[in-house]
Amino acid sequence: MPHILTAAALPVSDLLRRADTWRVRLAERPAPPVAPKAALIALLFYEPSTRTRAAFEQACVLLGYHPLVITAEASSIAKGESLQDTVRTLNAQGVRAIVIRHPQAGAPIHAAQVSDAPILNAGDGAHEHPTQALLDLYTLWRHYGCPDPDTRWLGGRKVAIIGDIRHSRVARSNLILLTRAGAEVWLCAPPTLLPDTPLPDAHTTTNAEQAIQNADVVMALRLQTERMQQGLLPSLDAYRRDYQIDPERLKLAKPECVVMHPGPIQRGVEITDAVADGAASLILTQVRHGVYVRLAVLEYALGEA
Ligand code: CP
Repeated sequence: MPHILTAAALPVSDLLRRADTWRVRLAERPAPPVAPKAALIALLFYEPSTRTRAAFEQACVLLGYHPLVITAEASSIAKGESLQDTVRTLNAQGVRAIVIRHPQAGAPIHAAQVSDAPILNAGDGAHEHPTQALLDLYTLWRHYGCPDPDTRWLGGRKVAIIGDIRHSRVARSNLILLTRAGAEVWLCAPPTLLPDTPLPDAHTTTNAEQAIQNADVVMALRLQTERMQQGLLPSLDAYRRDYQIDPERLKLAKPECVVMHPGPIQRGVEITDAVADGAASLILTQVRHGVYVRLAVLEYALGEA
């Protein structure tokens, strides 16, 4: 059964269609009868999470599995057990899949080396967050009327991703899926929050106005306040002044531009209340779509297509 480690390896078209089947099914019957399988799926979270963890938990329940949530603080990880030994232990106990969120880039790849059960990357350091990118893509796919996913259906669309690109796994995974669907992607950050080597297939700028000009989609990223302590930003006020997504800046985008954010949002830092709660915002739609996408991805990883 496949591990889900990077956005590049996802069978995107199949998963978009499968997620949409779940959307329709759950709209017809929000609490469908589920035959319990008496089997566990482990959710191994070494970092905090609300959206991803809740969506995977809900997906486990809807597929008949019991979600076994393990956090670093309340498990043998706190006693010094390595990731690979934890994964070996869960395999020995017969879990059917292991969802991993980890602060270190590449941790799910190491886990996959010792796991018979599929490993699903729920975000690893500044590397990737494949299911977030897939739910973002699904949200745009629905927004644009479910075009043929086997075409470059985002062709002619400009997507501006604004925030801490250097440390963003969301930006990296989104870049893969958005460019594959044909989008023109602009990555925008202060100079200190851009990667040392430009990411491939993207336009890069430090000028938010240039990124937002004529954009079809503006995606804001969470600004981690520890970047201030690391000396990567002069002040939050300077960041707000130059990069915050506010109604004035958004006027530069196309009139029908939509606004996205993977969450958690910091109101008044990377985005204003007026934009986060405004008519153009797809933020809560993204959250809802996260459940359908995790259902589709879990079914695929478990071979339950
Ligand atoms: N987008 C995202 O990964 O959110 P959580 O950290 O709440 O899971």
